Amino acid sequence: MLANFPPYKLKQLKVVVLTGAGISAESGLKTFRDNNGLWEEHSIEDVATPDGFERNSELVYRFYNQRRRQLLSPDVKPNKAHLALAKLERVLGNNFTLVTQNVDNLHQKSGNKNVLHMHGSLLSARCLRSGHCSAIYSDLDHSNQCDCCQPTNSLRPDIVWFGEMPKFMPQIEECLSQADIFISIGTSGTVYPAAGFVSLANQSGAHTVELNMEPSSGYNEFAEKHYGPATEIVSKFVDTLLKGFNFD
Ligand code: OAD
Repeated sequence: MLANFPPYKLKQLKVVVLTGAGISAESGLKTFRDNNGLWEEHSIEDVATPDGFERNSELVYRFYNQRRRQLLSPDVKPNKAHLALAKLERVLGNNFTLVTQNVDNLHQKSGNKNVLHMHGSLLSARCLRSGHCSAIYSDLDHSNQCDCCQPTNSLRPDIVWFGEMPKFMPQIEECLSQADIFISIGTSGTVYPAAGFVSLANQSGAHTVELNMEPSSGYNEFAEKHYGPATEIVSKFVDTLLKGFNFD
């Protein structure tokens, strides 16, 4: 599995993981582009663009309210793949960075701390004027007002929509430039800039790994690939990685 990998000491390894909707699929959250995925039932233009929000904010609030309610229901829990990444962070400490395109909180729930939500979070609301973000655990609509401005302003879902700049890009690029291993999990590799991270990691000389149900759009850029359900292949990969290195 890691046959050609240089014999680093585990604690020195800098690992960057990118996750997408596939890692949360077995926790009961829908992906976007699979059969029956969110983008089959909803139009991206309507619910995931600034123009859509201007045209019909009620529809947009409703879409994210439903997803927030589902996320907060007791049925939705981290799965074995989330737990495996929490274990990896416990071993690697600050050398581990988890970049997620997901707007759920399952990585934090499983114990990951160093998580960069590049596409925002369902549990955050953003002031339409100042951009200041605050935690939100209930439904959001125009009646919710910020506490950062005077007079107050409405809040929008703190989700990065198409046409907007993803968050934490300088930090992510810095981590990728230093990575020894880049692991992409549960993403179709169709949305940039995340889809381009494998190229950046390759340019930095990192070992690149794809763990997904099926080959992604950029599968040929990865040095190592394993296909199957995240709950099986992520924990297997993490266990192999942890076994293959000297802890001293
Ligand atoms: P997609 O829905 O595009 O891709 C999900 C990937 O997960 C697919 O390649 C599936 O094959 C794979 N998959 C499904 N079930 C899986 C499982 N149980 N185990 C492992 N893999 C599985 O989702 P993303 O790539 O995350 O952006 O989408 C990227 C972005 O597009 C999202 O963050 C979202 C969306 O539009 C915004 O909303 C801004």
